[in-house]
Amino acid sequence: MSTPMQPALPRATALIAVTAFAASVLGSPFQAGPAYKPQLSLPRGRAPGYGPLRFRPDGTFHITIFEDLDFGENAWDAWGPQQDINSVRVIETVLDAEPHIDLVVLNGDLITGENTFLENSTHYVDQIVGPMLKRGLTWASTYGNHDNDFNISAAAILAREQLWPNARTTQMVPDPDAGVSNYYLPVFAADCRRPPGRPRGGCPPELLLWFFDSRGGFRFQQKDAATGQRVGQPNWVDARAVDWFRRTNAELVRAAGGRPIPSLAFVHIPTNASLALQEAGVDPHRQPGIDDDVPLAQQAQGWCADGRNDGSCAYGGQDGPFMQAVASTPGLVALFSGHDHGDTWCYKWDRLLPGMTVKGSGVNLCFGQHSGYGGYGSWIRGARQVVVSLEGLKDLKDLAVDTYIRLESGATVGAVTLNRTYGHDEYPATPNDKTSLPSDGS
Ligand SMILES: *[C@@H]1O[C@H](CO)[C@@H](O)[C@H](O)[C@H]1NC(C)=O
Ligand SMILES: *[C@@H]1O[C@H](CO)[C@@H](O)[C@H](O)[C@H]1NC(C)=O
Ligand SMILES: *[C@@H]1O[C@H](CO)[C@@H](O)[C@H](O)[C@H]1NC(C)=O
Ligand SMILES: *[C@@H]1O[C@H](CO)[C@@H](O)[C@H](O)[C@H]1NC(C)=O
Repeated sequence: MSTPMQPALPRATALIAVTAFAASVLGSPFQAGPAYKPQLSLPRGRAPGYGPLRFRPDGTFHITIFEDLDFGENAWDAWGPQQDINSVRVIETVLDAEPHIDLVVLNGDLITGENTFLENSTHYVDQIVGPMLKRGLTWASTYGNHDNDFNISAAAILAREQLWPNARTTQMVPDPDAGVSNYYLPVFAADCRRPPGRPRGGCPPELLLWFFDSRGGFRFQQKDAATGQRVGQPNWVDARAVDWFRRTNAELVRAAGGRPIPSLAFVHIPTNASLALQEAGVDPHRQPGIDDDVPLAQQAQGWCADGRNDGSCAYGGQDGPFMQAVASTPGLVALFSGHDHGDTWCYKWDRLLPGMTVKGSGVNLCFGQHSGYGGYGSWIRGARQVVVSLEGLKDLKDLAVDTYIRLESGATVGAVTLNRTYGHDEYPATPNDKTSLPSDGS
């Protein structure tokens, strides 16, 4: 943690650097490092980063969510690189335990940016995605607060990911201040013959996956001229990304004939609604999961409503527009977040909670499981699994999606169905196990 600080760059230089990053991500391929050579080859005949996502012929679509992998801790000692070896092992164990994965989601904090070096800070991406490349799996990321720091930026991580054909992470809101990982992925039926590129002529998506950037952390290569401190970045989904979401969803629904399209959403930092639900009480049988991060940290935490983040405010409320959009999008079944490593429950947000102005309309707010050996806490590592079936999406008034957590032990916990009665149905409580650190990487 105690690396010497670089002298602050002149502000103009830093701005040019940031703009150049954003421009290169959107335009021509970005040169992420010196003479980069992929070390892993794709399995024969399968490059799933190309072509649309599809349900399997049996009508299911399986998503595996890794979150808070926090690669790149303490590169200068033995402990840090060992955590990365352990985290790769978690990823491999989970992928091998799940026979049919259609998409891997990396839900933020891929890398612990504050400990990385400018010249190779994004190279950890290669270690993270190695297990997916070996298995011919495709992935999509959101970025978290630790993915943004003096020596690393979400834009640079995106560029590194996009060197691999299996990456689906992209940026659909071009404004550099709106964050990077704001985009959607449509999922089509197995037999859909004319999918994307011709939304009007082809079959509409059966499912939409929305990815949001909750930003946070610190601005790339910027130091405050007066204090020499890193410059904080707002830690909520930007209103421009929310506008884009509303507009784009409305267009997709119109193109699909006006029927809402069932959807799932992913964001690294949960909203204030998750905190309000936690305060209402997490029942071990109705919202099974670990509930150790109390109170949880939410978007806009540490910011004031007037935009200051000098430590004088607990919460600024800037996640309001995003919460409103999440609560008012028909067909949105669940929003998955990470960030709070000690919380792993799903909660149906179906009412007006004390102190809140936004009323939930039934969307489920879920945490996954801390997946990495980097980052705080020793809760057993794992990854939330989400199994969507066309059968469960048939009735818009009764949408149902199955989910559970696959642990690094191989066991599964917290299996629930996110359906109309979730929150009333009783399930077994989730054990709160910790992982003791192995002394070697085996
Ligand atoms: C990045 O560079 C540092 C310092 O040379 C080194 O210790 C670390 O292993 C490198 N990380 C990667 C992912 O290459
Ligand atoms: C950033 O990277 C530079 C160059 O490798 C390194 O000297 C410095 O310690 C790193 N960390 C910070 C916080 O500047
Ligand atoms: C945020 O949640 C807290 C905890 O329930 C609540 O007291 C507060 O009023 C909420 N604020 C807003 C703006 O939603
Ligand atoms: C929701 O799923 C649970 C668990 O499978 C089930 O017991 C319950 O009946 C379901 N509710 C509805 C409305 O189908």
